[in-house]
This record gives sequence, C-alpha cells and structure tokens, in this order.
Amino acid sequence: MIQPHLPRTNPAVRSSPSVSSNNLINVLNVVNVSVSIVGPAGRGLRSAASAAARFMPIQGGAKPELFTAGTDTSTSTVEWAMAELLKNAKSMTKVRQELVTEIKQSFPKNSHLPQLPYLQACVKETLRLHPPAPFLLPHRAFASCEVMNYTIPKDAQVIVNVWAIGKDPMIWEDPLQFKPERFLNSTLDYKGNDYEFLPFGAGRRICPGLPMAAKHVPLVLASLIHFFDWSLPDEIDPTELDMSEKFGVTLEMEQPLLLIPKVRK
Ligand code: HEM
Repeated sequence: MIQPHLPRTNPAVRSSPSVSSNNLINVLNVVNVSVSIVGPAGRGLRSAASAAARFMPIQGGAKPELFTAGTDTSTSTVEWAMAELLKNAKSMTKVRQELVTEIKQSFPKNSHLPQLPYLQACVKETLRLHPPAPFLLPHRAFASCEVMNYTIPKDAQVIVNVWAIGKDPMIWEDPLQFKPERFLNSTLDYKGNDYEFLPFGAGRRICPGLPMAAKHVPLVLASLIHFFDWSLPDEIDPTELDMSEKFGVTLEMEQPLLLIPKVRK
C-alpha cells in the first residue's frame, strides 16, 4: 500500500514545493486506502492511519500539524461510528437502505452527501458521543472575563470539556444512547455556532480541517458500509462490543475495533 508512494518521498526531489503538495495528496490517499482495507488479520483503523502519518517525511509547505491533527481524528471518528453501527443494528440497516436508494451501484462521492441525511446524522451522533478531541486544544484567556458567574483571569489556560457537554442530560435526551435520529430535521450542526455540540471547536481556532473532514469521514463510512458486510471475530455478539474509551490526545477505543469484512453482492 505504501510502496507506490515511496518514489515521491525521495530526498533528492523533496525540496520542490510542488512535491510537498504532492505529499499531502499522497498521505491523504494512504489514509483513505488504509481505512478501506481493514480486515480480520489487519490492524485497527487508527494504527494504520497513524503509521501512514508517521511514515511520510513532510518538508516545505505541508506542515506536520495537518497530518497529526487530521489523521487520528478522522480515523477515530470512522472507528467509533463503525462500532456504534455494529452495536446498533437498526441504525446500520437504515444507513444501508439510504445508501442503496441513493448511491445504487456506484461509488459514494461528494455530490451524494446532501442526499444522505441519515449517514450524516450518524457521523454527528458519533462526534457527540465520542469527540476525537475531548478537551479541544488548550486555549488561553487574552483578558479577564466572566462566564456564568465565574471569573476567568487573564492568561488562564482554558480547557473545554466537549466530551462532557455532549453527554449533558440537561441538553440531550437519553444522552448515552446512540440515536442519530436526534439530528434529523434539526439545524444542529458542528460548525461552531451551536455551543452544545462543538466537536471541532468554535471561533477563530475552530478546526481548519472541518470542511474536509465533513466530506471524507462520511464518504469513508459510506464506502465501508455500502460495499461490505461487517462482523466481529469469534462470533462475538455485537451488542456486547466493548465501548470503553481511552483518553489520550485523541479519544480512542480502549480495545481497537477489529472487524471481518465480507464483500456485498
Ligand atoms: C473528524 C475529524 C476532525 C475533528 C473532530 C477535529 C477536531 C479538531 C479540534 C477540536 C481542534 C481544536 C479546536 C479548538 O481548540 O478550538 C482541531 C484543530 C486542528 N485541526 Fe482538526 N479535526 C478533525 C479533522 C481535521 C483534518 C482532516 C485536518 C487537516 C487536514 C485538521 C487539522 C487541524 C489543525 C491544523 C488544527 C489546529 C488549528 C489551530 O491550532 O488553530 N483537523 N481539530
């Protein structure tokens, strides 16, 4: 998988700016390919993408931050979404029906996304329950300010717990349940205007990769679901899937998801 990308990372040609931007495309291709081939003997989605990110020596215009910020977050979302859909068979059936109706025999592409509201709702619901950056990135108060009767002193480090906000029973009905339906016929979005749902942050430091993630995450998920049936190894009952979380820079599954794909006829 990685082999075809090797010639472009040759140090002799790496100083050219156009080669740097090629690297960007290459890495993102590697990430997408990694995600789509996860199989019974394979590693988890996350480790494949991280390996791809570590593998590519980035120089010049393409900044490493883009890759560290863009890989684990995206793969973690796809991994959690697949886990939730395996566990919640009714939701899986609904996404599949939507894909069959809208995409038919073709490959999922950007132009299909507006016709796939249930798929989009599944992505949102995954980001609510399992935000890849559970505390965003640390922020700093430029000036003293009052928030809900608390004084935030100038220069204080501010950590926003979006993980907890996403599970707040004052905001969400059945907060621990995976219910994509809550986002249907709702204007609630992750673009930083709805403070109860901020998986990408908000304001000037909102994730700059949001427009890209909003396309590739649902498209990867659509490809996985549309072309394969998925099951757990050793005939594990999907309702028993271990959904324990591991808090790190990104919110990971404590037990990385391993699934067996079967090509759909
Ligand atoms: C589901 C996918 C993603 C999620 C949930 C996500 C989430 C976030 C969050 C929460 C932040 C911090 C915002 C804050 O502190 O206010 C962030 C920052 C960032 N993200 Fe993303 N991200 C995703 C995908 C991507 C992608 C695909 C890229 C690039 C290709 C990317 C690039 C970045 C960068 C460079 C920053 C740092 C921005 C700064 O320092 O101002 N992200 N992301």
